Amino acid sequence: MNIGIIGFGYWGPNLVRNFSATEGCRVTMVADLRPERLRTALGAYPSITITARAEDIIENTSIDAVVIATPVFTHFSLAKSAMQNGKHVLIEKPMAMSAIQAEELIHLSKKLGKVLMVDHTFLYTGAVQKMKELIENDTVGKIRYFDSTRINLGLFQPDVNVLWDLAPHDISILSYLINEKPLSVQATGISHTDNGIENIAYMTLHFSSGIIAHFNCSWTSPVKIRMLLIGGDKKMLVYNDMELTDKVKVYDTGYNHRTASGQNLSDEDRRKILVDYRVGDVYIPKLEGKEALSAMAQDFCNAISRGTEPLSGGTLGLSVVKILEASQVSIKNKGKEINL
Ligand SMILES: NC(=O)c1ccc[n+]([C@@H]2O[C@H](COP(=O)([O-])OP(=O)(O)OC[C@H]3O[C@@H](n4cnc5c(N)ncnc54)[C@H](O)[C@@H]3O)[C@@H](O)[C@H]2O)c1
Repeated sequence: MNIGIIGFGYWGPNLVRNFSATEGCRVTMVADLRPERLRTALGAYPSITITARAEDIIENTSIDAVVIATPVFTHFSLAKSAMQNGKHVLIEKPMAMSAIQAEELIHLSKKLGKVLMVDHTFLYTGAVQKMKELIENDTVGKIRYFDSTRINLGLFQPDVNVLWDLAPHDISILSYLINEKPLSVQATGISHTDNGIENIAYMTLHFSSGIIAHFNCSWTSPVKIRMLLIGGDKKMLVYNDMELTDKVKVYDTGYNHRTASGQNLSDEDRRKILVDYRVGDVYIPKLEGKEALSAMAQDFCNAISRGTEPLSGGTLGLSVVKILEASQVSIKNKGKEINL
């Protein structure tokens, strides 16, 4: 399978490296608008054809699949044109700038019979796969909350705010782990630059089952934190992606609400919230160590060559974009609850 990769900036090189190492795949072309990035690509992969024009890849009849690792505002037109030229397409997260665009891409992929996948890399990590297993085998129990913090001194993006840049990771993890769509979203944020693009933002999702999910994203934190807490009624999970090895910990911690009862209780006692706590052992499960991007590249190739359903298809990409779009409306309306 011949693969062309558009965009060789920060993330593109990781894609070239992983697709080059995937069995049955060959990266034959790389496109980037910047000549210095093309020189770097050629230096690392002398057999690759380089070009400044994405169309050279999209219109090349020897290319089977196109991988798009350019800024978000370019995803839609590049993906659309690639599919119209008979290519399977993998788009970097987030899939597109709007749900309408994402829906059009899904429609096109169905009509033309092409694979459309979005690189939600975290789904392929050993940590997320382990958490999925612990939720599906009921170790965690009924999920009550999901709380993620993804903050650091990050690169301010010129086209999207910090939620569009960072939250796709956590939204895709949440969507993968729980089989429930959120009912509504509330978000607030602030821009410390002239362009009005938020560099700090907080988003909350509400679910009919009562789950609450909160996302804290920032490009302006002095420390880098990649922390996800998942609270179930049997166990709680802590996923600290900054840890080198012990990334997931399973806490036998819980709380149960008791209703105050008894004849001798004063009115004040009855009003007290009574909670039983359980603080038990903590254990560290063993995680699969394979690089997530390599599993992602394999998933894309399998979807093309064997017709398998990818973990991270267009539908997941669309649901992430829908949430981001609604969060933007909420931010502009000072945290108003927006139904999804
Ligand atoms: N999956 C992940 O964990 C992950 C991590 C980082 C970035 N990303 C995503 O990857 C995408 C790219 O991010 P980045 O950080 O690499 O950005 P970047 O700005 O570092 O790189 C983008 C590159 O695309 C090139 N480019 C732009 N328009 C082009 C066009 N029309 N034709 C050819 N080249 C073009 C630019 O010259 C640049 O070199 C974004 O969607 C981002 O969200 C994903």
